[in-house]
Amino acid sequence: MFLTNAPVEEIIKLDNDIFLLKIFSPGIASIIKPGEFLNIRVSQIPFPLLRRPFSVCDVEGDYIFLMFNILGEGTKALAGKHKGDSIDILGPLGRGFNTDGNYDIAVIVAGGLGVAPFPYLKRIINNKKNIHSFIGGRTFSDVITYGMKNIKVSTDDGSLGFKGNVVELLAQNVDIFNSKKVKIFACGPNAMLSTLKEFCLQHNLECEASTECVMACGFGICQGCPIESSNNQDKYLLVCKDGPVFNIRDIII
Ligand SMILES: Cc1cc2nc3c(=O)[nH]c(=O)nc-3n(C[C@H](O)[C@H](O)[C@H](O)COP(=O)(O)OP(=O)(O)OC[C@H]3O[C@@H](n4cnc5c(N)ncnc54)[C@H](O)[C@@H]3O)c2cc1C
Ligand code: FES
Repeated sequence: MFLTNAPVEEIIKLDNDIFLLKIFSPGIASIIKPGEFLNIRVSQIPFPLLRRPFSVCDVEGDYIFLMFNILGEGTKALAGKHKGDSIDILGPLGRGFNTDGNYDIAVIVAGGLGVAPFPYLKRIINNKKNIHSFIGGRTFSDVITYGMKNIKVSTDDGSLGFKGNVVELLAQNVDIFNSKKVKIFACGPNAMLSTLKEFCLQHNLECEASTECVMACGFGICQGCPIESSNNQDKYLLVCKDGPVFNIRDIII
Protein backbone atom coordinates (compact mmCIF):
# COMPACT_ATOMS: atom_id res chain seq x y z
CA MET A 1 0.00 0.00 0.00
CA PHE A 2 1.35 3.44 -0.97
CA LEU A 3 0.59 6.86 0.51
CA THR A 4 1.78 9.17 -2.18
CA ASN A 5 1.34 12.53 -3.87
CA ALA A 6 0.74 11.78 -7.51
CA PRO A 7 0.61 14.38 -10.30
CA VAL A 8 -2.50 14.78 -12.44
CA GLU A 9 -1.66 14.22 -16.11
CA GLU A 10 -5.06 15.04 -17.57
CA ILE A 11 -8.77 15.34 -16.85
CA ILE A 12 -10.78 14.00 -19.78
CA LYS A 13 -14.47 14.85 -20.07
CA LEU A 14 -16.51 12.07 -21.63
CA ASP A 15 -20.17 12.25 -22.63
CA ASN A 16 -22.84 12.47 -19.93
CA ASP A 17 -20.68 14.72 -17.68
CA ILE A 18 -18.45 11.82 -16.82
CA PHE A 19 -14.78 12.56 -16.14
CA LEU A 20 -11.65 10.45 -16.41
CA LEU A 21 -8.82 11.48 -14.15
CA LYS A 22 -5.41 10.38 -15.41
CA ILE A 23 -2.76 10.22 -12.68
CA PHE A 24 0.95 9.39 -12.92
CA SER A 25 1.72 6.78 -10.29
CA PRO A 26 4.13 4.02 -11.43
CA GLY A 27 4.23 2.30 -8.03
CA ILE A 28 0.47 1.86 -7.75
CA ALA A 29 0.00 1.21 -11.49
CA SER A 30 2.41 -1.72 -11.32
CA ILE A 31 0.49 -3.61 -8.61
CA ILE A 32 -3.18 -2.54 -8.60
CA LYS A 33 -5.76 -5.11 -9.74
CA PRO A 34 -9.24 -4.65 -11.23
CA GLY A 35 -11.82 -3.96 -8.52
CA GLU A 36 -9.31 -2.53 -6.06
CA PHE A 37 -9.63 1.12 -5.11
CA LEU A 38 -7.75 4.24 -4.07
CA ASN A 39 -8.72 6.46 -1.17
CA ILE A 40 -8.17 10.01 -2.33
CA ARG A 41 -7.90 13.21 -0.36
CA VAL A 42 -10.08 15.23 -2.70
CA SER A 43 -9.28 18.59 -1.12
CA GLN A 44 -6.64 20.08 1.14
CA ILE A 45 -9.41 21.21 3.52
CA PRO A 46 -9.61 18.28 5.94
CA PHE A 47 -13.17 18.82 7.21
CA PRO A 48 -15.83 17.91 6.16
CA LEU A 49 -14.04 16.33 3.20
CA LEU A 50 -12.45 13.10 4.25
CA ARG A 51 -10.91 10.86 1.66
CA ARG A 52 -13.19 9.42 -1.01
CA PRO A 53 -12.78 5.89 -2.44
CA PHE A 54 -12.57 5.45 -6.23
CA SER A 55 -12.26 2.17 -8.12
CA VAL A 56 -9.36 1.89 -10.49
CA CYS A 57 -10.95 2.35 -13.92
CA ASP A 58 -7.95 1.56 -16.08
CA VAL A 59 -4.17 1.36 -16.11
CA GLU A 60 -1.91 2.26 -19.03
CA GLY A 61 1.80 1.92 -18.32
CA ASP A 62 2.62 4.21 -15.39
CA TYR A 63 -0.79 5.92 -15.46
CA ILE A 64 -3.95 5.17 -13.51
CA PHE A 65 -7.40 6.28 -14.66
CA LEU A 66 -10.36 6.96 -12.36
CA MET A 67 -13.91 7.58 -13.56
CA PHE A 68 -16.34 9.87 -11.77
CA ASN A 69 -19.25 12.24 -12.19
CA ILE A 70 -19.90 15.35 -10.11
CA LEU A 71 -22.14 14.31 -7.25
CA GLY A 72 -21.10 16.44 -4.27
CA GLU A 73 -18.25 18.48 -2.87
CA GLY A 74 -15.57 15.82 -3.23
CA THR A 75 -16.11 15.06 -6.88
CA LYS A 76 -16.55 18.79 -7.61
CA ALA A 77 -13.09 19.38 -6.10
CA LEU A 78 -11.65 16.54 -8.19
CA ALA A 79 -13.14 17.89 -11.41
CA GLY A 80 -11.37 21.20 -10.70
CA LYS A 81 -7.89 19.63 -10.77
CA HIS A 82 -5.47 20.56 -13.53
CA LYS A 83 -2.43 18.99 -15.16
CA GLY A 84 0.45 19.12 -12.70
CA ASP A 85 -1.70 19.40 -9.55
CA SER A 86 -0.76 16.72 -7.10
CA ILE A 87 -3.25 14.38 -5.47
CA ASP A 88 -2.78 12.61 -2.17
CA ILE A 89 -3.61 8.93 -2.79
CA LEU A 90 -3.73 5.95 -0.49
CA GLY A 91 -3.79 2.57 -2.18
CA PRO A 92 -4.22 0.09 -3.69
CA LEU A 93 -6.89 -0.92 -1.18
CA GLY A 94 -9.42 -3.71 -0.82
CA ARG A 95 -9.98 -7.04 -2.51
CA GLY A 96 -10.61 -6.87 -6.24
CA PHE A 97 -12.06 -9.28 -8.82
CA ASN A 98 -10.58 -12.74 -9.26
CA THR A 99 -10.07 -12.77 -13.02
CA ASP A 100 -8.41 -16.21 -13.08
CA GLY A 101 -10.44 -19.35 -12.94
CA ASN A 102 -12.29 -21.93 -14.90
CA TYR A 103 -14.63 -19.87 -17.05
CA ASP A 104 -14.50 -18.87 -20.70
CA ILE A 105 -17.25 -16.26 -20.89
CA ALA A 106 -17.06 -13.14 -18.73
CA VAL A 107 -20.38 -11.35 -18.38
CA ILE A 108 -20.06 -7.77 -17.17
CA VAL A 109 -23.19 -6.31 -15.57
CA ALA A 110 -23.05 -2.62 -14.69
CA GLY A 111 -25.55 0.01 -13.64
CA GLY A 112 -24.77 3.70 -14.16
CA LEU A 113 -21.31 4.62 -12.89
CA GLY A 114 -20.90 0.97 -11.86
CA VAL A 115 -19.09 0.57 -15.16
CA ALA A 116 -16.05 2.30 -13.57
CA PRO A 117 -13.99 -0.81 -12.63
CA PHE A 118 -14.56 -2.65 -15.91
CA PRO A 119 -12.33 -1.04 -18.55
CA TYR A 120 -9.35 -2.35 -16.55
CA LEU A 121 -10.94 -5.77 -16.01
CA LYS A 122 -11.60 -5.94 -19.76
CA ARG A 123 -8.00 -5.00 -20.51
CA ILE A 124 -6.73 -7.83 -18.28
CA ILE A 125 -8.98 -10.62 -19.64
CA ASN A 126 -9.56 -9.42 -23.21
CA ASN A 127 -7.29 -11.94 -24.92
CA LYS A 128 -8.19 -14.84 -22.67
CA LYS A 129 -11.99 -14.80 -22.36
CA ASN A 130 -15.11 -13.93 -24.33
CA ILE A 131 -16.69 -10.80 -22.91
CA HIS A 132 -20.35 -9.71 -22.96
CA SER A 133 -21.32 -6.38 -21.40
CA PHE A 134 -24.81 -5.59 -20.07
CA ILE A 135 -25.06 -1.92 -19.18
CA GLY A 136 -28.09 -0.34 -17.53
CA GLY A 137 -29.29 3.10 -16.52
CA ARG A 138 -32.47 4.82 -15.44
CA THR A 139 -32.49 6.85 -18.66
CA PHE A 140 -30.24 7.24 -21.71
CA SER A 141 -27.99 9.84 -20.09
CA ASP A 142 -27.10 7.39 -17.27
CA VAL A 143 -25.78 4.76 -19.67
CA ILE A 144 -21.97 4.68 -19.73
CA THR A 145 -20.39 2.24 -22.14
CA TYR A 146 -16.83 3.61 -22.04
CA GLY A 147 -14.26 0.84 -22.56
CA MET A 148 -16.81 -1.98 -22.91
CA LYS A 149 -17.31 -4.53 -25.71
CA ASN A 150 -20.19 -6.69 -27.02
CA ILE A 151 -22.54 -4.21 -25.41
CA LYS A 152 -26.26 -4.59 -24.71
CA VAL A 153 -28.01 -1.65 -23.07
CA SER A 154 -31.13 -1.26 -20.95
CA THR A 155 -32.92 1.80 -19.59
CA ASP A 156 -35.75 1.84 -17.08
CA ASP A 157 -37.69 4.36 -19.19
CA GLY A 158 -36.92 2.73 -22.56
CA SER A 159 -35.13 5.83 -23.88
CA LEU A 160 -32.20 3.64 -25.03
CA GLY A 161 -32.00 -0.09 -25.76
CA PHE A 162 -34.11 -2.61 -23.88
CA LYS A 163 -36.90 -1.13 -21.72
CA GLY A 164 -36.47 -2.53 -18.23
CA ASN A 165 -33.68 -3.16 -15.79
CA VAL A 166 -30.34 -4.68 -16.66
CA VAL A 167 -31.09 -7.99 -14.92
CA GLU A 168 -34.24 -8.37 -17.03
CA LEU A 169 -32.06 -7.71 -20.08
CA LEU A 170 -29.70 -10.42 -18.88
CA ALA A 171 -32.62 -12.84 -18.48
CA GLN A 172 -33.62 -12.15 -22.10
CA ASN A 173 -30.16 -13.27 -23.19
CA VAL A 174 -30.08 -16.37 -21.11
CA ASP A 175 -28.73 -18.40 -24.05
CA ILE A 176 -25.27 -17.06 -23.12
CA PHE A 177 -25.54 -19.11 -19.96
CA ASN A 178 -26.08 -22.42 -21.76
CA SER A 179 -22.36 -22.80 -21.41
CA LYS A 180 -21.59 -23.71 -17.80
CA LYS A 181 -18.29 -21.81 -17.88
CA VAL A 182 -19.68 -18.33 -17.32
CA LYS A 183 -18.66 -15.87 -14.66
CA ILE A 184 -20.52 -12.65 -13.92
CA PHE A 185 -18.68 -9.49 -12.82
CA ALA A 186 -21.03 -6.83 -11.47
CA CYS A 187 -21.05 -3.32 -10.06
CA GLY A 188 -23.95 -0.94 -9.55
CA PRO A 189 -26.58 0.23 -7.12
CA ASN A 190 -27.60 -2.14 -4.32
CA ALA A 191 -31.09 -2.64 -5.81
CA MET A 192 -29.47 -3.95 -9.00
CA LEU A 193 -27.08 -6.22 -7.10
CA SER A 194 -29.90 -7.60 -5.00
CA THR A 195 -31.95 -8.55 -8.10
CA LEU A 196 -28.83 -9.93 -9.73
CA LYS A 197 -28.12 -12.11 -6.71
CA GLU A 198 -31.59 -13.72 -7.04
CA PHE A 199 -30.95 -14.32 -10.75
CA CYS A 200 -27.57 -15.93 -10.05
CA LEU A 201 -28.99 -18.18 -7.34
CA GLN A 202 -31.85 -19.26 -9.64
CA HIS A 203 -29.49 -20.08 -12.51
CA ASN A 204 -26.64 -21.34 -10.34
CA LEU A 205 -24.20 -18.78 -11.76
CA GLU A 206 -20.91 -17.66 -10.31
CA CYS A 207 -20.85 -13.92 -9.68
CA GLU A 208 -18.52 -11.43 -8.04
CA ALA A 209 -19.93 -8.00 -7.25
CA SER A 210 -18.25 -4.75 -6.28
CA THR A 211 -20.23 -3.03 -3.54
CA GLU A 212 -20.38 0.60 -2.47
CA CYS A 213 -20.84 2.33 0.84
CA VAL A 214 -19.66 5.44 2.63
CA MET A 215 -16.11 4.89 3.89
CA ALA A 216 -13.66 6.69 6.13
CA CYS A 217 -10.27 5.05 6.72
CA GLY A 218 -10.47 2.61 3.77
CA PHE A 219 -8.34 -0.11 5.37
CA GLY A 220 -10.21 -1.75 8.21
CA ILE A 221 -9.51 0.46 11.23
CA CYS A 222 -12.63 2.58 11.79
CA GLN A 223 -15.24 -0.22 11.33
CA GLY A 224 -17.30 2.31 9.39
CA CYS A 225 -18.22 0.21 6.35
CA PRO A 226 -20.04 -2.95 7.51
CA ILE A 227 -21.95 -5.27 5.20
CA GLU A 228 -23.94 -8.25 6.43
CA SER A 229 -22.53 -11.70 5.76
CA SER A 230 -24.98 -14.30 4.45
CA ASN A 231 -22.88 -17.22 5.68
CA ASN A 232 -22.62 -16.33 9.31
CA GLN A 233 -25.62 -14.81 11.10
CA ASP A 234 -24.82 -11.67 13.05
CA LYS A 235 -21.44 -11.41 11.36
CA TYR A 236 -20.50 -8.28 9.48
CA LEU A 237 -17.79 -7.97 6.88
CA LEU A 238 -15.96 -4.74 6.07
CA VAL A 239 -16.45 -3.41 2.55
CA CYS A 240 -13.02 -1.73 2.52
CA LYS A 241 -11.00 -4.74 3.69
CA ASP A 242 -13.03 -7.90 2.96
CA GLY A 243 -14.37 -6.30 -0.26
CA PRO A 244 -15.36 -4.15 -2.02
CA VAL A 245 -15.62 -7.19 -4.32
CA PHE A 246 -17.45 -10.17 -2.83
CA ASN A 247 -18.84 -13.44 -4.08
CA ILE A 248 -22.45 -12.27 -4.40
CA ARG A 249 -23.64 -15.31 -2.38
CA ASP A 250 -21.58 -14.24 0.63
CA ILE A 251 -23.31 -10.93 1.34
CA ILE A 252 -26.80 -9.70 2.15
CA ILE A 253 -27.55 -6.79 -0.15
C1 LIG B 1 -15.24 0.95 -3.11
C2 LIG B 1 -15.83 2.21 -3.71
C3 LIG B 1 -15.51 2.56 -5.00
C4 LIG B 1 -16.03 3.73 -5.56
N1 LIG B 1 -15.70 4.03 -6.85
C5 LIG B 1 -16.18 5.17 -7.39
C6 LIG B 1 -15.83 5.49 -8.75
O1 LIG B 1 -15.11 4.76 -9.42
N2 LIG B 1 -16.34 6.65 -9.25
C7 LIG B 1 -17.15 7.49 -8.48
O2 LIG B 1 -17.56 8.54 -9.00
N3 LIG B 1 -17.49 7.19 -7.24
C8 LIG B 1 -17.03 6.07 -6.67
N4 LIG B 1 -17.36 5.76 -5.37
C9 LIG B 1 -18.14 6.75 -4.60
C10 LIG B 1 -17.21 7.90 -4.19
O3 LIG B 1 -16.30 7.47 -3.21
C11 LIG B 1 -17.96 9.11 -3.60
O4 LIG B 1 -18.71 8.71 -2.50
C12 LIG B 1 -18.89 9.75 -4.59
O5 LIG B 1 -18.20 10.04 -5.77
C13 LIG B 1 -19.49 11.04 -4.02
O6 LIG B 1 -18.48 11.85 -3.47
P1 LIG B 1 -18.73 13.41 -3.27
O7 LIG B 1 -17.75 13.90 -2.24
O8 LIG B 1 -18.75 14.11 -4.58
O9 LIG B 1 -20.19 13.48 -2.70
P2 LIG B 1 -20.65 13.82 -1.23
O10 LIG B 1 -20.54 15.29 -1.03
O11 LIG B 1 -19.97 12.91 -0.26
O12 LIG B 1 -22.17 13.38 -1.35
C14 LIG B 1 -23.07 14.02 -2.27
C15 LIG B 1 -24.33 13.23 -2.34
O13 LIG B 1 -24.08 11.95 -2.92
C16 LIG B 1 -24.46 10.91 -2.04
N5 LIG B 1 -23.44 9.87 -2.10
C17 LIG B 1 -22.22 9.91 -1.56
N6 LIG B 1 -21.56 8.78 -1.79
C18 LIG B 1 -22.38 8.00 -2.50
C19 LIG B 1 -22.27 6.68 -3.01
N7 LIG B 1 -21.19 5.93 -2.82
N8 LIG B 1 -23.33 6.20 -3.70
C20 LIG B 1 -24.45 6.94 -3.86
N9 LIG B 1 -24.61 8.18 -3.39
C21 LIG B 1 -23.59 8.69 -2.70
C22 LIG B 1 -24.51 11.54 -0.67
O14 LIG B 1 -25.43 10.86 0.16
C23 LIG B 1 -24.96 12.93 -0.98
O15 LIG B 1 -26.36 12.99 -1.14
C24 LIG B 1 -16.89 4.58 -4.80
C25 LIG B 1 -17.21 4.22 -3.48
C26 LIG B 1 -16.71 3.04 -2.94
C27 LIG B 1 -17.06 2.67 -1.55
S1 FES C 1 -13.72 2.43 6.01
FE1 FES C 1 -12.77 2.20 7.96
S2 FES C 1 -13.07 0.08 8.36
FE2 FES C 1 -13.83 0.31 6.34
